Amino acid sequence: MAPPHVGDDTSTRTPLIAAPPYLPRRAAAWLHPLPLLVAAALATYYHLLAAPAPSYYHALFLTLGSNDTAAAHLRALTARPHLAGSEANAAAAEHVVSMLASLSFPTRVTPYSVLLSYPAHRSLSLSAPGHHTTAFALVQDTYPDDPNAAVSAEVVPTFLAYSASGSAAAEAVYANYGRAEDYAYLAARGVNVTGKVAVARYGKVYRGDKVINARLAGAAAAVIYTDFKDFTPGKAFPDGPWMPPTGVQVGSTFKGVGDPTTPMWASSEGCERLSIAEAMASDDMPGIPALPVSGRDGEEILQLIGGDVAPEDWQGGEGAPVYRLGPGPAVLNLTYAGNETMATIQNVIAVIEGKEEPDRYVILGNHRDAWTFGAADPNSGTAALLELAQRLSKLQNKGWRPRRTIILCNWDAEEYGLIGSTEWVEENRAMLTSKTVAYLNVDIGVCNSGFEASATPQLDELLKQASKQVPNPDNGTESLYDMWMASDSSLIGRLGGGSSDYSAFVQHIGIPSVDMSIGSDYAVYHSLYDDFTWMEKYGDPMFRRHVAVASMWGLLALRLSDEEILPFNYSSYVAELEKGAVGINERVRGMPVSLSPLHKSIKEFDMAVLKVDSELEVVQPQNFWSPWRTNPLKVRDLNDRLMMTERAFTEREGLSGRPWYKHMIYGPSLYNDYGAEVYPGVDDAIQTAKKTNTSESWQSVQHEIHRIARIISQAALVLSGQLT
Ligand SMILES: *[C@@H]1O[C@H](CO)[C@@H](O)[C@H](O)[C@H]1NC(C)=O
Ligand SMILES: *[C@@H]1O[C@H](CO)[C@@H](O)[C@H](O)[C@H]1NC(C)=O
Ligand SMILES: *[C@@H]1O[C@H](CO)[C@@H](O)[C@H](O)[C@H]1NC(C)=O
Ligand SMILES: *[C@@H]1O[C@H](CO)[C@@H](O)[C@H](O)[C@H]1NC(C)=O
Ligand SMILES: *[C@@H]1O[C@H](CO)[C@@H](O)[C@H](O)[C@H]1NC(C)=O
Repeated sequence: MAPPHVGDDTSTRTPLIAAPPYLPRRAAAWLHPLPLLVAAALATYYHLLAAPAPSYYHALFLTLGSNDTAAAHLRALTARPHLAGSEANAAAAEHVVSMLASLSFPTRVTPYSVLLSYPAHRSLSLSAPGHHTTAFALVQDTYPDDPNAAVSAEVVPTFLAYSASGSAAAEAVYANYGRAEDYAYLAARGVNVTGKVAVARYGKVYRGDKVINARLAGAAAAVIYTDFKDFTPGKAFPDGPWMPPTGVQVGSTFKGVGDPTTPMWASSEGCERLSIAEAMASDDMPGIPALPVSGRDGEEILQLIGGDVAPEDWQGGEGAPVYRLGPGPAVLNLTYAGNETMATIQNVIAVIEGKEEPDRYVILGNHRDAWTFGAADPNSGTAALLELAQRLSKLQNKGWRPRRTIILCNWDAEEYGLIGSTEWVEENRAMLTSKTVAYLNVDIGVCNSGFEASATPQLDELLKQASKQVPNPDNGTESLYDMWMASDSSLIGRLGGGSSDYSAFVQHIGIPSVDMSIGSDYAVYHSLYDDFTWMEKYGDPMFRRHVAVASMWGLLALRLSDEEILPFNYSSYVAELEKGAVGINERVRGMPVSLSPLHKSIKEFDMAVLKVDSELEVVQPQNFWSPWRTNPLKVRDLNDRLMMTERAFTEREGLSGRPWYKHMIYGPSLYNDYGAEVYPGVDDAIQTAKKTNTSESWQSVQHEIHRIARIISQAALVLSGQLT
């Protein structure tokens, strides 16, 4: 039998607000000594009867971590390659379902039929006058004693998902990182890319942008390679953590979000859809054939590219040939045939129903699908999710029940374009927007040392507090907070980029969210070598980092679900909005643009924060004499305002020209899908105005400033709970 749907009306089963341990409202008549005594007696009585305080369970949760459990999950999940849409990934979903169901959390699979992309045929050869033709094997070598050697044949051939099918045989041009500015440099140097094969290296921007930039520059095809300078500065795996010479970074080149056949709506059964041809013709698709290659193949190509010597910061590392711009005399002959096909994906959803506010959700999410074995990306996160679920089950056995509902999600097809999470958010949009308190994402849980976190700003303070309670997995005398502050990434990042499953939650529907990991970069990313052996040798030899991520993730979830007053602090939001305004101010200096509407709205928001802070002061649980103490509806009202303020930063029409992106404060840069911009709409308009410098273009900058000012004023009203 299917477990109950999260959306089912549960209010008849459990009252929204529990009666005890609140005192009856009349106890507020405290000035008379008799009621006062009665109240004190009642308080003691309820206190003694009550289950341990949430903080007792939270501390217990932190002691229950198990590195062996996390390692066992990771080993099980990474036994075979498990690409989205494959039988192996459906089997991995079964593993997750049976684990969560065995903890007696109601668990179900939500499947979707979506457009995925697989390679059907690939070939790439290199020739030049006076040089024999090299036909590249396009294969990643297994390593000596590779325990996965037997199943490595199941690994998908190296490809770039959603590349156009076609052939090109033309001179090669070197395009550095394939950014817009790299193509501008080539144009300035008189290197004509039209009809050529662009050769760009990985790094700096999203690979989809590299291919799209190549197409916009007129290239007939693109090749992306892994430069040894960036990915192999030390010993290669298995002798070190770095990328082996035949290692290839596979990945998607789709710039959109979600199933390409349902661009603004959910891929529900029987729904309206674009045809595959229409979906592939989207501007968010690369539109030209492209292939990824290894460092070894990339170097061989660059050796044969002539022309002017490329600038210093375009060069490779020690021992690399001198890189030149081209075009030619190297000729690349690339053929790619993709198989774009509808495939079934499986999200796994488990629900731990809240006792007092079951209709308020705290959602944890991680994806399961991987390009290869997925040891770091993403199953270090999946292993952490399962490990923390086991701890929550132990808490339940000791009497803990969350105040609010906790939902554990294991997404599918993230790698192709955040597809599983996006379809689910689109399908449940109205439910999620009215009931979700926060979304906590972990994609790559562990790949290195150092703690990294990004968040919508009202969660900054909670992140800091929680990280002080979790031990540093690499140094028992310190906290995760100390490790975080010691690293060069001690600032909290923002969620404007499009690089993981928080995107739909934040950028489409405005849910307060967190994304975090231990370590950020690792060289074998999206290659054959992202396997259990790599993790055990280099990523997390004792699996303590897995435990630390699970502790941090679970603690955030516990505090958000158990605390009577939501642990949100909007003061950091004011600071972020102001910082963004300063950034705009610098970029429009001397131009006919006024920031005063923006400043005015931020001031309103600041006033709202002061107002809500003073109200929160009064209802704090330790403030026994609070008149609101007796009024759970007042607590609910405050929590709803805290929850819904983030929603008010979204706008029905969305960013200009990119209507799916509803959040006006955080969204991806138009020019790099990995980039996290504040005020992305204003940023787009400024970039256009700087290029065209017409009075209309500066007027549209002003228009975008008015739009964000209006949104911030709306958010101020929601937070203060006032009508004008
Ligand atoms: C680049 O080459 C194409 C095709 O050969 C040609 O049509 C175009 O005019 C050239 N562009 C420049 C700026 O020379
Ligand atoms: C490119 O390679 C394909 C497949 O190997 C081959 O059929 C074709 O003739 C080649 N084209 C050129 C111009 O060399
Ligand atoms: C495309 O992929 C699907 C699913 O793997 C497979 O059933 C089909 O045979 C493939 N078609 C081609 C032309 O490779
Ligand atoms: C652990 O942290 C403490 C306190 O910051 C520091 O003194 C010590 O050197 C660290 N130990 C290691 C092995 O890094
Ligand atoms: C877990 O940690 C203990 C030491 O605390 C260690 O002996 C054990 O090997 C670790 N387990 C794994 C799988 O690394």
